[in-house]
Amino acid sequence: MPLTRKAYRAAILHSIADPAEVGIEASYEYFEDGLLVVDNGQISALGHASELLASLPADIEITHYQDALITPGFIDTHIHLPQTGMIGAYGEQLLDWLNTYTFPCESQFADATHAEQVAEIFIKELLRNGTTTALVFGSVHPQSVDAFFEAAQKLDLRMIAGKVMMDRNAPDYLTDTAESSYLESKALIERWHGKGRLHYAVTPRFAPTSTPEQLTLAGQLLGEYPDLYMQTHISENLQEIEWVKELFPERKGYLDVYDHYQLLGERSVFAHGVHLCDDECARLAQTGSAVAFCPTSNLFLGSGLFNLPMAEKHKLNVGLGTDVGGGTSFSLLQTLNEAYKVMQLQGARLSPLKSLYLATLGGARALRLEERIGTLQPGTDADFLVLDYNATPLLSYRLKQSKSIAETLFVLMTLGDDRTVAQTYAAGNLVHQR
Ligand code: GUN
Ligand code: ZN
Repeated sequence: MPLTRKAYRAAILHSIADPAEVGIEASYEYFEDGLLVVDNGQISALGHASELLASLPADIEITHYQDALITPGFIDTHIHLPQTGMIGAYGEQLLDWLNTYTFPCESQFADATHAEQVAEIFIKELLRNGTTTALVFGSVHPQSVDAFFEAAQKLDLRMIAGKVMMDRNAPDYLTDTAESSYLESKALIERWHGKGRLHYAVTPRFAPTSTPEQLTLAGQLLGEYPDLYMQTHISENLQEIEWVKELFPERKGYLDVYDHYQLLGERSVFAHGVHLCDDECARLAQTGSAVAFCPTSNLFLGSGLFNLPMAEKHKLNVGLGTDVGGGTSFSLLQTLNEAYKVMQLQGARLSPLKSLYLATLGGARALRLEERIGTLQPGTDADFLVLDYNATPLLSYRLKQSKSIAETLFVLMTLGDDRTVAQTYAAGNLVHQR
């Protein structure tokens, strides 16, 4: 195959470490007039345009983005494909919301054609918002995952997904059995895990909707294939936590249920964790598990305020999640806008560079993919975005007053949304142009 080499010139910013570990200044690299060189879908060089240009052949194709910022593609560590059609559903908290809105909407995915149509819309929406990698819940139907992976494969996206396992406490039309969930998950793993840039996640919905038999088989699956992911929900809502205590009285608490069934580990991502205690954070960190912080959902469903400083204290891996359709936006910029407010309400700060970290490298680390995505380091996948400083009249005027890249970044996260994402590239290909 001939070498395809392209270069992109703009302001360029990426996280290279967690500000909580190295301080803000050492956590990022910023090139005011930067150059990103891409060879065959991977980044081959990053630096100051003035230094790099001299080393490149004179005929290289260079795309110059003015008044724009290149960052790594965003990483959404928690989102539900089959809830696309019910985002913004009025009036309920978690358990009633699931019964009233979520389960009926997910039931439509029994129809493969419906699943294919929504998968197209969903992937377009991810890319319109600059999300190049997501950890995705399908519905209980295997065809939801087939539809999603087929659409993702066409664009050579790095994506992770799994079929929901759910064999109790849900309507009959939406439950599987311990055995069928095991066999269907296994077939999907054989079909998709490790194909191109796709990965499979074993997906028990949450402890209340799985029998002990199903949780046992979920743990067994994780042992049968290397590098599988596990995704579920934990400690999102106080009523939910009480229910788990009633269903599993023999366990010490919510996390201990998952621990008992061997569902913790380096590729395990637990959504929400709003009401986790110190000991649970310590155990999650000890096992290398990660938590997906989903601020728009936690506010919308009235679930509570995620304690990011406690997670940092335990060196627990944290990524950001939109949790659509409990969350109210596909945009990780809007998700960071709400994350900032969640910290404010707890008397804490979320710095713009920590926010960038959470949306990029932090998410990649939560997914153990930091060697491939989350930064613009040479050798990694060319998944990146172009953020437009003139996306709206207000953004344009406001950014003209900005005195630093940190201020610019913060304003992008406060005022920005899908309109701010001018281009999205995945594996070096232009996959969204506003
Ligand atoms: N807990 C169990 N299922 C769900 C879901 O679909 N969304 C959210 N936010 N929490 C859950
Ligand atoms: Zn969720």
